[in-house]
Amino acid sequence: MYILGIETSCDDTCAALLKDSQILSNIISSQIDLHKKWGGVVPDIAKRAHQDRIFPVIETALKRAKIKITDIDLIAVTKGPGLAIALSVGVNTAKELALKYYKNIVGVNHIEGHLLANFLMSGRGKPIRPFIFPSLALTVSGGHTKIILINKIGDYKVVGETLDDAAGEALDKSAKLLGLGYPGGPVIERLAEKGDSAFLKLPTPIADKKILDYSFSGLKTAFYYQIKDWPKTKINRHLVDLAASFQKAVFDTLIRKYSLAIEKYQPKCLLISGGVAANKDLRKRARNLAKKYKLPLYLPFKKELNTDNAAMIALAGYYQAKRGDLDSPYTLDTDSRAEL
Ligand code: KG4
Ligand code: ZN
Repeated sequence: MYILGIETSCDDTCAALLKDSQILSNIISSQIDLHKKWGGVVPDIAKRAHQDRIFPVIETALKRAKIKITDIDLIAVTKGPGLAIALSVGVNTAKELALKYYKNIVGVNHIEGHLLANFLMSGRGKPIRPFIFPSLALTVSGGHTKIILINKIGDYKVVGETLDDAAGEALDKSAKLLGLGYPGGPVIERLAEKGDSAFLKLPTPIADKKILDYSFSGLKTAFYYQIKDWPKTKINRHLVDLAASFQKAVFDTLIRKYSLAIEKYQPKCLLISGGVAANKDLRKRARNLAKKYKLPLYLPFKKELNTDNAAMIALAGYYQAKRGDLDSPYTLDTDSRAEL
């Protein structure tokens, strides 16, 4: 089956072509440069950029895959969660194409896309990853932080999630506090590599071992209070140590609750995905965790499959269509607060 994936939930305009699970093309047009100077994503700017870019991005995806739109079997588009006015650009484009070319259409949950990003294959059909259930997934990005028990594709149970900020959001906000660029995660990662993570002592959010939920806003506030009276020169002198300390506090929290969830749910496989999973230190910690519990661990095989992309949306759409869960191009709508 040939699937065209479309993703516009935040600040990346994305289109991808899949042949079942194999990526034939995966185009990502990042808007970072447009939002950078505002220190975060500006919804109106995102919407306009998606409108300008979506058709050229789809055309490039088709061209790279050497597929004509008439040969496509399915259009999969992110319907939510995400920024409503950004999502609507993708959904309206997908509906227009489905009606014009008489194609099947499915609206996909963005978080399911991140979960399934671990099962994408290159055009050469690698890596081959069997589904092993139950799996326990940690999806960690700028918009969400969730621990999800997967009994089978399409059967998901959120067993822990953030009660306030997402982990990526916390990294982005702390980077902003330090006067660093947007998005903060990759900048913090780069600085943290050279810093002393024991430099600042930060609290342990939700220490109760029975609770699997996350909280990151307290960490961010504690960080703010520790450095708020520092002169800029002192902050700059200790930038690498501050980055390392904050990143460690976020990752300690991520791993601690994930470990508790592993012990409680005894999964047979671990999956980690989402923008923050691009981080080398988190990936290393995840590998150590998998070793400790003697479990297989799947991480997206390419860096760009961690962050937002349309290949993961196309794959989620593929499985949804196989379940017979198609949408109508007349009634499909965005759902900016969609739950899994
Ligand atoms: O999955 P994603 O592209 O978009 C959402 O669905 O939110 O994730 C974006 C988030 C941002 O918060 C960004 O700072 C973070 O992922 N991120 C990283 C890294 N690359 C992106 N965080 C830590 N280390 C990275 N290398
Ligand atoms: Zn995402």
